[in-house]
Amino acid sequence: MYNSKITGLGYYVPENVVTNDDLSKIMDTNDAWIQERTGIKERRHVEKGDGDTTTTMGVKAAKVAIERSGLDKDEIDFIIFATLSPDYYFPGPGVLVQRELGIKTVGALDVRNQCSGFIYALSVADQFIKTGMYKNILIIGSELHSTGLDMSTRGRGVSVIFGDGAGAAVLSREEDTTKGVLSTHLHSEGEHAEELSLIAPGMGKRWVTDILEDDNEEDTSYYPYMNGQFVFKNAVVRFSEVINEGLQANNLTPADIDLLVPHQANLRISQFIQQKFKLKDDQVFNNIMKYGNTTAASIPIALTEAWEQGKVKEGDTVVLAAFGSGFTWGSAIIKW
Ligand code: UT7
Repeated sequence: MYNSKITGLGYYVPENVVTNDDLSKIMDTNDAWIQERTGIKERRHVEKGDGDTTTTMGVKAAKVAIERSGLDKDEIDFIIFATLSPDYYFPGPGVLVQRELGIKTVGALDVRNQCSGFIYALSVADQFIKTGMYKNILIIGSELHSTGLDMSTRGRGVSVIFGDGAGAAVLSREEDTTKGVLSTHLHSEGEHAEELSLIAPGMGKRWVTDILEDDNEEDTSYYPYMNGQFVFKNAVVRFSEVINEGLQANNLTPADIDLLVPHQANLRISQFIQQKFKLKDDQVFNNIMKYGNTTAASIPIALTEAWEQGKVKEGDTVVLAAFGSGFTWGSAIIKW
């Protein structure tokens, strides 16, 4: 048995900064409401014509991660891509990354676990490496939300929260099993699938011919829906549970955490978790203020920024945790 460890991290966000004031010009919202409820000050939106897609942003983040890993792209044995906003309905972006990076014909897997997507992807990669099947796996989380949001006042409860961006990690074999990814913990509760969802297009839900005939402007099933307060209440419970589960599995306590990198869903959720686990400000990394919620990209972007700022050091115990649509949630305990 081996362990896996992160050997390279990278992220990419579009240049276009959209502030809360910018949003208040196109919908009935305001900076005070958004900051008070979410902590978000600004987010990035891809601009029409600049050519960025979920895949191209993922590729840009991946190039940085691969370079930092010191590997050649042809040493990547497998690609895992997590997103809820793929370029195409099918095929998924994994194969597009394989094409764009010009990597030999390795396997490419697409993960559909929304905000928990990166942790699910990390967990799958970790198992492949632990069993010895693969040595180096590229994991990407990338989202292009802005083109799919309802930017009218009707959609303000969702659209002010989400931003575009991508993060990537290279996971490599580690012979020392006391280091690297110690464990991952995954959960789901499909009972609440529709509480945070985008119903159409969905082959099980509506026939394409019905959609074409039904030119109904009131139809919001093409936009993400979120029952915000219900999601919030579930998030704080599940975040806490799954962090505790990870700590207990490794005989650790909250006092052993050097850095918690939570999925950037809402600064108030992160602060609640920080208080619950009695962590100091510098033990929880947040960047939702700058990027909003980038779903599957949020953890790899945050982890990369934390690493770039010297906040992740050799020997540190780093905890990743996420909760989101599905509902799905998960954690990873890493000895850096
Ligand atoms: O990443 C996946 C997981 N996602 C999450 O964990 C998100 C969890 N949920 C949340 O973060 C919060 O529920 C939100 C930030 C989404 C919303 O905050 P809230 O305190 O739950 O607000 P609310 O939806 O209950 O809305 C309160 C009021 C409503 O007005 P009335 O009915 O009280 O008059 C909304 O219409 O705020 C109004 N509102 C807004 N006002 C200004 C909703 N969105 C906005 C907005 N600007 N953007």
